[in-house]
Amino acid sequence: MNIVILAAGLGKRMKSDLPKVLHQIAGRPLLGHVLGAAHSLKPNKLVVVYGHGAEKVLAALQAPDGGLPATGGAPAIDWVLQSPQLGTGHAVAQAVPHLDEAHPTLVLYGDVPLVSPSTLQRLREATDGGSAVALLTQVMPDPTGLGRIVRKDGKVARIVEHKDADAETLRIREINTGILIAPTSPLKSWLVALRNDNAQGEYYLTDIIAAAVRDGIIVNTVHPAALWETLGVNSKTQLAELERQHQRNLAFSLTESGVTLADPARIDIRGSLQCGRDVSIDVGCIFEGTVTLGDRVRIAANCVIRDAEIGDDVEVLAMSHIEQAKVGTRSRVGPFARLRPGTELGEDNHVGNFVEFKNAKMASGSKANHLAYVGDAKIGARVNIGAGTITCNYDGANKHQTVIEDDVFIGSDSQLVAPVTVRRGATLGAGTTLTREAPPDALTVSRARQVTVAGWTRPVKKK
Ligand code: UD1
Ligand code: CA
Repeated sequence: MNIVILAAGLGKRMKSDLPKVLHQIAGRPLLGHVLGAAHSLKPNKLVVVYGHGAEKVLAALQAPDGGLPATGGAPAIDWVLQSPQLGTGHAVAQAVPHLDEAHPTLVLYGDVPLVSPSTLQRLREATDGGSAVALLTQVMPDPTGLGRIVRKDGKVARIVEHKDADAETLRIREINTGILIAPTSPLKSWLVALRNDNAQGEYYLTDIIAAAVRDGIIVNTVHPAALWETLGVNSKTQLAELERQHQRNLAFSLTESGVTLADPARIDIRGSLQCGRDVSIDVGCIFEGTVTLGDRVRIAANCVIRDAEIGDDVEVLAMSHIEQAKVGTRSRVGPFARLRPGTELGEDNHVGNFVEFKNAKMASGSKANHLAYVGDAKIGARVNIGAGTITCNYDGANKHQTVIEDDVFIGSDSQLVAPVTVRRGATLGAGTTLTREAPPDALTVSRARQVTVAGWTRPVKKK
C-alpha cells in the first residue's frame, strides 16, 4: 500500500508560529502519531505532503520518538512540498509521482492523530482486494462544516462539501472523515480531471468519489470504532480535548492490564509506560520517555518519572522527580527526592527527602535519608550518608569522583571534596570536610576540638 499524509495546512486557528502538525499530544508531534499508525500498516511508499516550516517539521520528527523510525524496516519518507495549497485533491496530486501503481493509496491527515491501526486495517479490507474505493465515514450528531456522504439506493454516489451543499444535503449526518483508500492508477486519472469550480475554489479530493462511481468502481464505507479516532486538531481547544481523550485511553489500557490508578483522569503518559503486576499509581503523576515499573511498585502522588527503570517492590513517595535513573528492588525513594541522570540505586536503598543524586551508583542496603547532594559518586553496600552531606564534585572547571566503600558511615553535615575516597568501614565524624582519603575502619574527623571557656559571661546590654 502507498500512504499519503496530508500535512500542508497552515492551521491558522492554532494561533501559533509552530506548524500545526508539530503541536504535540502526549509529548509527540501530531504528525508523529499519524506516522506511527502509518508504519504499523507496513506501507511500500510513504509520502508526507507538507507546506509550512519544512525544516522545523523534519527536525522535530527526527527527535527521539518524534515519529520517524529509528531503525530500518519502515520505508523512507518522501517529503513533497505543496505550495501554494489549492485543496486536498491538489495536495494528493503532488504526491502522485511517488506512488506505486501496483498498490492502492491510503490518504491520512497529519492533524488527525488518534486514528487506530485496527480501523485502518478494516478500511484496507473494504477495498475488495485493492479494486474498490474504501471510505471512512461517520454519522455525526452535528455534521456542520464537514463533507456529506450522498447515497443513492444505499450506495455512495458522491461527497458534497458543506459550503457547496443545498438544504437537503445539509440534513445528511453521515460525513466524510477524509480518510480513504483508492486504487492508484484510476486515482491518478481522477486527480488530473479535478476542477476547482466550487464554493471554495479548491481542488477537492472528495470529487474523486463521483468519478469512481462514474467509472463503475465500487465505493465501500467503514466507520471508525470510536468517534474520537477521526477528530482533527484545528485549535488549541481541540488539541487539549484530544490530549485528554488520548490520556484517558492510555489510563484505561493500564487499568485493563491490572494497574491500580487512584484516578484515571489524573495521570499523564508521554511515552511508554510498562508496568508489572499489582502496580499502583496515585494522582498527579507524569511519566515521560520510556519508563518501566516492576511488580508491586507503588508511586505516590505528584511524581515525575522520565526514562527510568524501577525495580520490584519499590516505593516512590510523593513529589519525587526521577530522570534517566534506575532504582533497585525494594528501595524507597522520596518524598521530595530527586534522582538525576546516571543514578543507579541498588536493592534496599533509601533515598529520602531533599536528597539529590546525579551520576551516582549506590550498592545494596545503603541509605541517604535526608538533605544531601550526591554527585559523581560510587557508593558501596550498607553505607549510611548522614543529613546534610555534600559531595563537592565540581571545582568550578571540572567534575571529580567520590568513592565511598562498603560499610561506611558518613556523619551529618560532611563535605567530601572530590576526588576523594572513603575506605571500607570508615566513619566520618559529623561536620568533617574531607580533602584526603579516609582510611578503613577508623574514625576520621576534621573539626576544631570542642572547648569550654570556664568563667565566661554573656555580654549584657549597656544601659
Ligand atoms: C476535508 C474534506 C471534507 C471532510 C473533512 C474532514 C475535502 C475537500 N474536504 O475538509 O469532506 O469532511 O476534511 O475533516 O477534502 N491539506 C493540505 N493541502 C491543502 C488543503 C488541505 O495538505 O491544500 C491538508 C490539511 O493540512 C489537513 C487536511 O488536508 O490535514 C484536510 O484539510 P482541511 O482544510 O482541514 O479539510 P477540509 O477541506 O475542510
Ligand atoms: Ca478540517
